[in-house]
Amino acid sequence: MNENDRLIIALDIPDTDQARNIVERIGAAGSFYKIGYQLMPIGGLDLARELSAQGKKVFLDFKFHDIGATVERGVKSVCRLGGDFLTVHAEPDVLKGAVAGRGDDPRLKILAVTVLTSLDAEALKKAGSDMGVRDLVLKRAEFAAEAGADGVVASAQEAAAIKARFGDSLTIVTPGIRPAGAAVNDQKRVVTPADAISAGADYLVVGRPIVGAENPQAAAHAIADEIAAAPGALRS
Ligand code: C5P
Repeated sequence: MNENDRLIIALDIPDTDQARNIVERIGAAGSFYKIGYQLMPIGGLDLARELSAQGKKVFLDFKFHDIGATVERGVKSVCRLGGDFLTVHAEPDVLKGAVAGRGDDPRLKILAVTVLTSLDAEALKKAGSDMGVRDLVLKRAEFAAEAGADGVVASAQEAAAIKARFGDSLTIVTPGIRPAGAAVNDQKRVVTPADAISAGADYLVVGRPIVGAENPQAAAHAIADEIAAAPGALRS
């Protein structure tokens, strides 16, 4: 893992021209970009190819959820598109299909989405789960490990527990990151960049605090500096 790649910038932006503009403004401060639902149907896949061609890493946040065979075929197609990370739901059959579809692709890593960072215990209860957030995250991380997936997406609030149980066998990717004093928006389980790294997160996903900033490059630099200075950060 390259220290500079630990910050993943979520391109949650209304169109690809604006997204290209933000990528250009961020420049060398951004080396890893996440493309999700907002751009996917309107040119996001071409943008993913372009970013790869520029030497950037690409996180395809597609959160696949279907019968195993369909997920397997979908992931095979994602391998042809090219990407570094792909999310799928953390259910055993979905994960098995994704791992089979990835096959021996040397680039694509499969990440299991455990519990969205916009959910808390009360929201889980409303959705019908009596399990606490941490127990459910760990259960789903176990599904990921058993299926041979590469990592999980979880809040940094659960990162230490995941690290303690699975060591380095699962890469931990944490959204819900907010620099001290930043707007929380709809996120519930938020953590600062430094605390996320200290808790054991390998990669941080940050959207609005960077792409919504007046100066996205300065915002990305500030977070990258906080990552590099955090106890637990990689040292070259
Ligand atoms: O703007 P913000 O920093 O909240 O963006 C976080 C990004 O991470 C969003 O693109 C959201 O879809 C994604 N995400 C998340 N929680 C997860 C998985 C993905 O917030 N568990």
